Amino acid sequence: MTRTQSAVVAVVLVALWGLGGSVVAQQQAAPAPAAAPAPPPVHLPEWAYTPPNPPGAPPPPSSLPTDDTAVIRIPGVERTLTRGQLRGLKEIPDWRPEEHVGAPDVVRFNRPAADATYLVRACGFCHLADGGGRPENASVNGLPVAYFLQQMEDFKSGARDSADPRKNNTNLMITYAKNATPEELRAAAEYFAAKPYGKRIKVIESRTAPKVRLQGGMHMPVPAAEGGGMEPIGEQIVEVPDDHLRAEARDTHMGYTAYVPVGSINRGKMLAATYQCTTCHGASLEGLGPVPPLAGRSPSYTTRQLYDMKLGARKGPWAELMTPIVAKMSLTDMMNVSAYAASLNPPAATTTRAAR
Ligand code: HEC
Ligand code: HEC
Repeated sequence: MTRTQSAVVAVVLVALWGLGGSVVAQQQAAPAPAAAPAPPPVHLPEWAYTPPNPPGAPPPPSSLPTDDTAVIRIPGVERTLTRGQLRGLKEIPDWRPEEHVGAPDVVRFNRPAADATYLVRACGFCHLADGGGRPENASVNGLPVAYFLQQMEDFKSGARDSADPRKNNTNLMITYAKNATPEELRAAAEYFAAKPYGKRIKVIESRTAPKVRLQGGMHMPVPAAEGGGMEPIGEQIVEVPDDHLRAEARDTHMGYTAYVPVGSINRGKMLAATYQCTTCHGASLEGLGPVPPLAGRSPSYTTRQLYDMKLGARKGPWAELMTPIVAKMSLTDMMNVSAYAASLNPPAATTTRAAR
C-alpha cells in the first residue's frame, strides 16, 4: 500500500467510525419522531408526477355530489351509477359492462384487508375497466403479456418504484402486485393485452395551456368562474381530461388533451431518430414483441417513466436496455420525445374517443 492509499483508508475508517458513533448517540437519545418521508428529487417535473397537495391544504374540489346516494349520469349512457358506486368500495364502477365481458375477478372486485384497506384493490379501479388508465397511473391495455408480467416482478422485487416518494398510488401498486397471486396477475395481463388501446389523447402544440389544479387525483383545468384561463405553457406538458365530471366518474370513453410546447413534436421526432427508439419499440412506436408500445400513450406517463429510469427508481432487468439512452437525455428531451410519441396513432386507433 502506498502512503496515499493508506491515508485514504485511514480517512474512510475515521469517517465510518464517526458515523457509527453518531448512530449510537441517536439510538440512545429520546425516541425520535416518526421519520418524515424522503424529500422529492430537486428537479422533479411535478407536471408528470401529480404530487398530492401539501399536508394541511384544503381537500381537492370535486365535480361530484358528496352524498353517496346521489345518482350520476354521463352523456350517451342510459345506465346510472350512484356516487357510492363510483367510489368502488367493493366492485369497480363500470358504465358499459357489455364492453368488458370476461374481465377477471381481480380486475373487477377488491380483496379487502381486515383494516378497511385492501390486500388487492381491483386493477380496473385505477386502470379503468378497459385498462385505458389515467395520466397519473398507466394505460395497461394492449401491453404484451410478457412485458406486463415482468413489470409485476419488478414492482414486487423493488426494481420498479417512483422517483417521487410522495407518489402514493405507485406504493399501492407495489402492494397489490405483491399480494395478488401469479394466476390473478396472469389473468389480468391476458385480459388487458386483448383490449386494444384506442386513440384518446389530442396533442396540441400551444404557447399557452390551461391553469390546472389537483382534482380527482389528476390535473384538471381551473374553471373560468374560479379564476381559470390560459397561461404561458413554459417547459412542460399540461395534460387534462376533456370533461371534469366524466373523468371523476371514470368514463372509459372520455378523451384527454395534452398541451405541449410549440416545436416539441418535431424535436421529439428528431430525438427518436437519434436514439433509434424504433429499433426496439417498432417503426411507429407501436410496440415490438415484448417491448412496450409508446404511440398515443399519456405523455405525462411516458416522461415520468423516462425520468424514473434516469434516476434509477425504475431499474428492472429489461429497463437496462433503456439506461444508456436516458443517461444522455435531458428532461426537455424526455418531454419532447413523449410529446412526439403521444401524437402518433396507436395501432388499434379505429376510434377517436376524444371526438365522442
Ligand atoms: C391504486 C391504484 C392502482 C391499482 C388498484 C392498480 N394499479 Fe397498476 N399502476 C398504478 C400506478 C400509479 C402505476 C404507474 C406507476 C408509476 O408511474 O410510478 C401502475 C402501473 C401498472 C403497470 C405498468 C404499466 C406499464 O406500461 O409499464 C401495470 C402492468 C399495472 N399497473 C397492472 C396492475 C394490475 C394487474 C393491477 C391489479 C392487480 C393494478 N395494476 C392495480 C396504480 C394502480
Ligand atoms: C435497445 C432497445 C431499446 C431502445 C433503443 C429504446 N427502448 Fe425504450 N424500452 C426498451 C425495453 C426493453 C423496455 C421495457 C423496460 C422494462 O421492462 O422496464 C423499454 C421501456 C420504455 C418505456 C416504458 C414504457 C412503459 O409502458 O412503461 C418508455 C417510455 C420507453 N422505453 C421509451 C423509449 C424511447 C423514447 C426511446 C428512444 C429515445 C427508447 N425507449 C429506446 C427497449 C428500448
